[in-house]
Amino acid sequence: MDKILILDFGAQYTQLIARRVRELKVLSLVENFDFPYEKIVELAPRGIILSGGPSSVYQPGAPLPDKRIFESGIPILGICYGLQVIAHLLGGEVDRAPRQEFGKALLVVDDSKDLLHEIGDVSKVWMSHADKVTKLPQGFVPIAHTENSPIAAVKSDRQKIFGVQFHPEVVHTSKGKEILGNFVFRVCGCAADWEPGNFIEESVRDIKSRVGNEKVICAMSGGVDSAVAALLIQRAVGRQLHAVHIDNGVMRKDESKNVVEYFKKNFDINLHHVDASETFLKRLRGITDPEKKRKIIGNTFIEVFEKVAHDIKDVRFLAQGTLYPDVIESQSHKGPSAKIKTHHNVGGLPEVMKLKLIEPFRLLFKDEVRRVGRALGISNEIIQRHPFPGPGLAVRILSDVTPEKLEILRQADEIFIEEIRKYGIYADIWQAFAVLLPVQSVGVMGDERTYEYTIALRAVTSEDGMTADWAQMPYDLLAKVSNRIINEVRGVNRVVYDISSKPPATIEWE
Ligand code: XMP
Repeated sequence: MDKILILDFGAQYTQLIARRVRELKVLSLVENFDFPYEKIVELAPRGIILSGGPSSVYQPGAPLPDKRIFESGIPILGICYGLQVIAHLLGGEVDRAPRQEFGKALLVVDDSKDLLHEIGDVSKVWMSHADKVTKLPQGFVPIAHTENSPIAAVKSDRQKIFGVQFHPEVVHTSKGKEILGNFVFRVCGCAADWEPGNFIEESVRDIKSRVGNEKVICAMSGGVDSAVAALLIQRAVGRQLHAVHIDNGVMRKDESKNVVEYFKKNFDINLHHVDASETFLKRLRGITDPEKKRKIIGNTFIEVFEKVAHDIKDVRFLAQGTLYPDVIESQSHKGPSAKIKTHHNVGGLPEVMKLKLIEPFRLLFKDEVRRVGRALGISNEIIQRHPFPGPGLAVRILSDVTPEKLEILRQADEIFIEEIRKYGIYADIWQAFAVLLPVQSVGVMGDERTYEYTIALRAVTSEDGMTADWAQMPYDLLAKVSNRIINEVRGVNRVVYDISSKPPATIEWE
C-alpha cells in the first residue's frame, strides 16, 4: 500500500493533514520531526509532508528534520513552518514578517504544472504565520503569490520538493484538497487504495499469521471501537477469539442484554456475557468522590476480566481497539498535562495481564473504524452510537450510586435519547445523555407538594471530544423531553438543560 509520511513539527493541524490524505484514499502516517532517516528509508513512503509548527527556524533548538531527506529522491511538501524548514536547510532565508499574516488571503497561481494543477488562477487560502521565506534556496522558484506573500508557494526545478506558506489542510483553503491531491497523485504517484475492504483483507492476513492456533481475548463494551475490533479478529481467527462483555451494573437501560443479543444473533461470535453488576455496585456503595468511583470501576473491571481470562485458560493475546489519535498523542513529546479525570477503559489491562497485544486500529481514525465496521456488516445503529464512558452511569449520578438512582437515571436517559432519535438529529450530536443531580427541589403535582430530584440534560457537538459546544437543541424537542421525564419518571420533578461548553466545563459531569 502506498504511504505518505507526515513529519510533525508540533502544529495543531498535523492530524488534519493525515486525515485529508486519507480522505484521498492514501495511507498517511504521522511521526515526530526527528524520526530517524534510516527508518524513513525502511518505511519507503511515496512522499513526505513537513507539517507546520509554532517554532521559528532560527530559535535555538528549533525542530529540524534529518537533512538527508532532501537528497533521498522522495518527493517533499513543506507546509508553513515546513516550507521555512526547506528554505532554511537548503540555503534560503527566513525572516520575521513585519506583521503576522493570519486569516484568508487570495492565492494567485503563477505556475499550474504540478502542485497547483487545475485549482484556478485565483483561490482563497488560509494563512497563519509570523515568519516568512524572504530568499529562496538555489534552484527554487515561486509558483504562486498573495498580496502580502510574494513567495506563497514554491518548487524546486531540479527535485520534487514543494512548499506552501498557507494551510491546504483546513477547510478555509478552498482548493486545499485538490492541492494535497496534486501532491499525492501527480507528484508522488500514489494509488488510491486505502479502503475498508483492503484494510480488512490485510489485517485478517496479519492477525492470522500472528495468532496461529492461539487464543485471543477481547473486552467488548458495546462501543464502536471494541465491537469492530472483535468482529475483525473473529473474521481472522473465528472461535479462537473470546470476546467478553462485562456488565458493570452502571450501563444504560437494557444495554448489556441488547449488545449481547445483537452480536450473538448476527455474528458467529464466541461471546462471554459476565454479569458482575453486584460486585461493582457493592464496591460503589456510599462512594461520592468522582475519582474514587472511577478507580473502583477501573480496578474491579481488571479483576473481573483477569478472572475470565484465567477461566478460559491459555490465552496468549489481548485485542484492543486503540485508535491512531491516541497513538500519535502518546508518541509526541507533549508536556505533562494536568490530570482532569482518570480515564477508565481497557487501557490498564496490558500492563497487568502480560499478554501480547493486538491493536488492529492503531493506524485508524474513528471515522475509518466506522467504515470498517460497516464493511463488516455491523448495523448503522451500533456504528453511529454516541460514546459512552467506561465508568458509565456512575459518573452521571452526582452522589453515591444506588439502585434507585440508577433506575431513575436509566428511564430519563432512555426518554431523552428516544426523542432525539425520533427528531432525526441523533447523528448530528456527538453525545447526549441525562445526569442525575443530588439536588431536590419543591414542585407541585396535582394538588400535592413534591420534593424530588433534578435531571440535567447534556448534549454536545464536537469533532473529537477534546473540545465541545453545547448543542442548540430545538425548543419543542426539549419541551417534549422535559414533559415526558417529569410525567413518566417517578422521583423527578425538575429538568434543566446544560449550556456549558468544553472547556471550561467537561462533557461528563464527573
Ligand atoms: P470529558 O468528560 O473528559 O469527556 O469531557 C470526553 C469524552 O471522553 C468520554 N469519557 C470516557 N471514555 N473512559 C472512556 O472510555 C472514561 O473513563 C471516560 N470518561 C469520559 C466522555 O464520555 C466524552 O466522550
